[in-house]
Formats: sequence, C-alpha cells, structure tokens
Amino acid sequence: MGKKLLLEHAHVEGIRYFDTYRRHGGYAAVEKAFKMAPADIVEEVKKSGLRGRGGAGFPTGMKWSFLAKPEGVPRYLVCNADESEPGTFKDRYLMEFIPHLLIEGLIISSFALGSERTYIYIRGEYAWIVDILEEAIAEANRAGFLGTNILGTGFNCQIYVQRGAGAYICGEETALIESLEGKRGNPRIKPPFPAIKGLYDCPTVVNNVETLAAIVPIINGGAEAYAAIGVGRSTGTKLISACGNINKPGIYEIDMNISVEEFIYSDEYCGGIPNGKRLKACIPGGSSVPILPANLLLKTAKGETRMMTYESLADGGFATGSMMGSGGFIVLDEDQCVVRHTFSLARFYRHESCGQCSPCREGTGWMEKILHKIEHGKGDMRDIDLLWDIQAKIEGNTICPLGDAAAWPVAAAIRHFRDEFEWHVLNPDEAQKRNFGLAHY
Ligand code: NAI
Ligand code: SF4
Repeated sequence: MGKKLLLEHAHVEGIRYFDTYRRHGGYAAVEKAFKMAPADIVEEVKKSGLRGRGGAGFPTGMKWSFLAKPEGVPRYLVCNADESEPGTFKDRYLMEFIPHLLIEGLIISSFALGSERTYIYIRGEYAWIVDILEEAIAEANRAGFLGTNILGTGFNCQIYVQRGAGAYICGEETALIESLEGKRGNPRIKPPFPAIKGLYDCPTVVNNVETLAAIVPIINGGAEAYAAIGVGRSTGTKLISACGNINKPGIYEIDMNISVEEFIYSDEYCGGIPNGKRLKACIPGGSSVPILPANLLLKTAKGETRMMTYESLADGGFATGSMMGSGGFIVLDEDQCVVRHTFSLARFYRHESCGQCSPCREGTGWMEKILHKIEHGKGDMRDIDLLWDIQAKIEGNTICPLGDAAAWPVAAAIRHFRDEFEWHVLNPDEAQKRNFGLAHY
C-alpha cells in the first residue's frame, strides 16, 4: 500500500469539519509555517520538488520565486479549482471530502507569497462544493486561522470563493484571471506571466487545488521526506482519477514509482479490465494528452517498463509517448472505437474554444465536421490527411494551450490508429451501424 499524504484521513467521519480535521493533526502545518520566514517556506517548496498538479507540471517553488514584489502593490494567490478537463475529477474529491486541507494549504501559501486576499475560482458546476468550502472558510475564521493578525503574527488573510459559469477555457490561468475581474474569460497573451502581471495587473500566483493541498504535508514532514517519495523529478504523491473500462474507477493517491501495468491491473488500484476484455488504449493525463495504444502504454518504445511518472509517461515525446497532464486516466478496452472517441473530444474542444484565434476557432470546427463525416461512414481517405493537416496547423499557433489540446488527441489517434479511420472509410455501412448512439447528433 502506497503512502497517503493527502487522502490519509479522507475517510474519517466528519473530517469535513474543523474540529475533526484539527483532532487529526489539521492546522499544525500552519502553526509550523508561521514560525518560518516566508522566503524559507518558498525554499522548502522548491526543495520538495513539487510540480504543478493541474496539468503542466511546472515546478511550484520556481513559480513562487518568480512572483514580483514591487513596493506598495498587492500580491495575489488564486487557487484554480476550475477542474474541467474530461476524465479529471480529483480536485472535486479533495474539496468535497477534506476541504480544510485546501484551506490550510492556502493559508500557508498566502503567508509565503504575501497574499492578503486569496481567491478560489471554482467551476460553476461544482455548486454544492462552494457551500462546503465557504463553511470551511467560516470555521477557519472562527478558529483564528484566517482574518486579521492570524495567530498573533500580524499577517492578515481572507479567502474568497468565486464560482465560474461553466466555461472550460476559464481553467486557463489568464482566462481565469479575466473572469475573476468580471470580464469575458478570454486568455491573455503570455508573457507577461501572471507572476509579473496577473489579477488587476498585480503579481499573482495561480496554483491548482491539489498543488496547494500538497503544501501541508511538505511543511508537516519537511521537504526532504516529501522528495524521498516517488522517483527522479516526480516527487511526492499524485492523485489520479481513473475511469473508463476498469473494474474500480475512482480517485487514487499513488507513489509515482509504480508501473502503468500495476496501476491498471492490481487490485489496490483499477483492478483490471471488466469481463476479461483486452486493453486497447489509454489517455493517461486527461483528454488533452495523446492517446497511447496498449503496447506503448505498458512499455516505452525502448522496451522499458512505462512508469506512472511525469518523465516515463512522456518518454518518446508525442511520437511514442504521452503526458501525466492532470492525472485523468481514461482506459479503453478492445470494444471501444477510437474514431468515435476522437470525434467526441473534437466536439468538446470546438464547443469550448473561446474563438479569439483563427487556427483554434476555425480548426476545431473543421476537425469536428470531418470526424463526424468519417465516424458516420461518409468520409473518404483524403479526409484523414486533411484532418492531419488541420491539427498540424493549429498546434503551436494559438494564444493559449486549448488549441494544442484540441490538436494533440487528433494527431495521436491518427498516428496510432490510422487503420481504424481507414476501416470507417472502407466500411461505411458498418460504421453507420456502430454509431447508432450518435445518430441524432
Ligand atoms: P504552462 O506550461 O504555460 O504554464 C505552467 C505554469 O507555469 C503557469 O502558471 C505559468 O504562468 C507558469 N510559468 C511558466 N513559465 C513561466 C515563466 N517564465 N515565468 C513565470 N511563470 C511561468 O501551462 P498552463 O497553460 O498553465 O497549463 C496547461 C496544462 O493544463 C495542460 O497541460 C493540461 O494538461 C492542463 N489542463 C488541466 C485542466 C484541468 O481541469 N485540471 C483543464 C485544461 C488543461
Ligand atoms: Fe481561445 Fe482557442 Fe485561441 Fe485559446 S487557442 S485563445 S481557446 S481561440
């Protein structure tokens, strides 16, 4: 059984409430952090090797050290709880079942960064979690862990929860900032990064829910103990939301030093594929990362065991590898149609494109239309090449990563499953029958 740092107490009855959380060691990390200098907390996070858990895997301590500190200008910490990546539902679990872990991580991080007004931007669909978070914040205020002169340190901090309105793009940090400012959630061109010019043009750190929760065990146990878990640059534990054709879908906290095969087949985690079906493919890090066929999922192209680490999942680049991404692990068995799946994702990205840049706005629409044609047995071979050309023209040519996120799944599906696209073209009647469920679209 792997070590649990975030979910250790998640199943304790009443852990949602302050008193129970406190009885299980809650807020000890705040008390410890307030005896440290803010710069030392940043150093500790750097030493821990923690990487951003939202998807990009950027080193958290380094991001914190980029935060500008001009005289007389407020600094902000914003928690990105706009979890919307298809297949990703780990932050929801943390906030719903153990909200004080996030609040505690936010207080420590706000102190380290000098943020007196800290925001949680949460996706609109998580409406009931807003109430849970607000209750937890009120409890922390009553207990003196938020508000003015916290624990007599002279540090003032308040946390505010802001609900989004259902746009996936508002999970992109600059779109999130725009939305938080009350504007339409259009991504900004970077640089400048939010660390220099973020919320209300002030220096801002935007971190994911799981990243901020991980600050608590880092302070409690020390950076060295945290870094000793995992392997290489994949330190600490990682939450994985596993779904699709597996026996035990759910949230797992893993030591990343395990193989993909163990994660899928062991009873401790996904428990294998139902009904004795064969594994066909997997999207290991949320819908934006490349799909991998079974042979490249369990072993890298070099024949090495594929591990659940940032490095191993990306081994081979996009030709033969994928990414850890947000940890949304989607498993497909032998009965699943990759063309249908890719069409469904293309429809999602077309719908969620903010429309600011032409390659994304137009390209996502064209990819959806062509995939719809192929999927419904109305495509020809040239459509597959056209699809390839369109995705290649989107990648790297847009303001924000949504364009890449729309292009990569299409590229990987054609790269690894071209025969399946061709089968749809060569067998239009069969393709039509297989797609009965999407006939009304
Ligand atoms: P990114 O790589 O552009 O940036 C990562 C972070 O590092 C950002 O906070 C950025 O401001 C900061 N950063 C990078 N270089 C910097 C510099 N030189 N100075 C200061 N700060 C710097 O990636 P981004 O756009 O933050 O995230 C993309 C990822 O988000 C995708 O890989 C995808 O997996 C994931 N994603 C997750 C979703 C979810 O629901 N969890 C939804 C959609 C995407
Ligand atoms: Fe908007 Fe797409 Fe451009 Fe991002 S890439 S700014 S979502 S149009």
